[in-house]
Amino acid sequence: MAKRISIHGEWTSHWGFIVAATGSAVGLGNIWKFPYITGQNGGGAFVLAYILSVLLVAAPALIAEVILGRRGKQSPIHTMQTLVREQQQSRLWVGIGWMGILVGFLILSYYSVIGGWALAYIPRLVSGLFSTVGSLPKEQATLFVQGTFTHLIEDPERLLLWHTLFMLMTMTVVARGVQAGLEQATRFLMPLLFVVLLVLVGYAMSTDKFMQGVHFMFNADFHKLFYPNCTPASCEFSGRGVLIALGHAFFTLSLGMGAMMVYGAYLPKHFSLLKATGMIALADVMVAILAGLAIFPIVFSNGLEPNQGPGLVFNTLPLAFGKMPFGSFFGGLFFVLLVLAAWTSSISLLEPTVAWMVETKKFTRVSATAWAGFFIWLFGLVTIFSFNIWSEVKPLSMFSSFANKTLFDLLDFITSNIMLPLGGFCIVIFAMWRMRSADILEELELPEASTRYKILRFLMRYVAPFGVLMIFLNAIGVIA
Ligand code: TRP
Repeated sequence: MAKRISIHGEWTSHWGFIVAATGSAVGLGNIWKFPYITGQNGGGAFVLAYILSVLLVAAPALIAEVILGRRGKQSPIHTMQTLVREQQQSRLWVGIGWMGILVGFLILSYYSVIGGWALAYIPRLVSGLFSTVGSLPKEQATLFVQGTFTHLIEDPERLLLWHTLFMLMTMTVVARGVQAGLEQATRFLMPLLFVVLLVLVGYAMSTDKFMQGVHFMFNADFHKLFYPNCTPASCEFSGRGVLIALGHAFFTLSLGMGAMMVYGAYLPKHFSLLKATGMIALADVMVAILAGLAIFPIVFSNGLEPNQGPGLVFNTLPLAFGKMPFGSFFGGLFFVLLVLAAWTSSISLLEPTVAWMVETKKFTRVSATAWAGFFIWLFGLVTIFSFNIWSEVKPLSMFSSFANKTLFDLLDFITSNIMLPLGGFCIVIFAMWRMRSADILEELELPEASTRYKILRFLMRYVAPFGVLMIFLNAIGVIA
């Protein structure tokens, strides 16, 4: 095979790839979503289901996606075109690339709005806005914090301002290119993220409820996971918690839309994909767990509940920080953390589109970033309005799977529960059932007779596609 190289440049080292990919993986999913779905699904047993999902389904799928990228060396669309030719497969597989670009567009349009919320909360905390709640009775304090959040999301102009800022931050990095943009930014931001996270865990340790947080995260109560709505009268089994864990594992590793594919395309040859993907998955899980260890003790030590859903970070936490010593500082730091995580992820949502536009030769990197960024920014208005002027617009309510979902809920649901698993499914199937196994073996750089290869092949060929299919079937209401 002729040696292909990426026209966008390559990571300067393996670390460049590992850090950038970890930056993509570690995002709002880890720090905003993971703690609240853990809270809703009973804690420890859910954490275990999530770790197993990463290990058995998501990490093998990650390897498959990176392999395709490293072989094709271009944006997902052109990578798939190259591979389809090389492997003499149907051109329909190129659909993986097209859908990837579309999903990246859609996800970034709302991801940026939520990233904007995190930005908006930094000044709110730092200015000590919430420190007044300490002197209020509990109900009033709760109302005040909730009111602050409602006030933000009900104001389209304010949301637009923060969304614009977040998009500009994302575009600035992507416009600078692979080495000077993506690699440099993540190399600086990711260590910072880890430091901030550790400081916050340290802060949580200083509360007297730290052990309760640890217990909540690690005490595996399977009853809570499998029988979520138990009353003394009836107990019904449900696999939903496991499917949520599975879906989340998949989302948190940034799979299914070609983000990891394009990061793989910038990878120099010859270094262990297994080691790299292992490190990325491990770092991703660790951040999620540390985020839980930072959040739950703070929640418990203020007598609050961990099962508050999406508002956990924006409603429950500010209340807790408001009552704690140095809460403004550490609370501000928490939202800095959230912004860092979201920022290094959002660039990976934009990069596949920009890479593709540059490859068509009609754009420079800067103009591609400007155009793509502009349209994503504009489409972000849909999300912004679904919290206020369009909050009653629920277009697909006639289908039970979509009942009561606003436009934002629909965007989130359709992209992360339907399109990503579908894309991910096609990616593993193409890699493991359509490509010559000799080529996969060459990419994995493992001896064919080794046990490691056999296990990996089993996971990639059977377990991963099955797991991903389950997420999809659950989302469209076929199972569970
Ligand atoms: N993994 C990120 C998170 O946990 C989100 C993300 C970034 C993503 N790029 C992606 C999700 C690509 C799916 C596909 O928040």
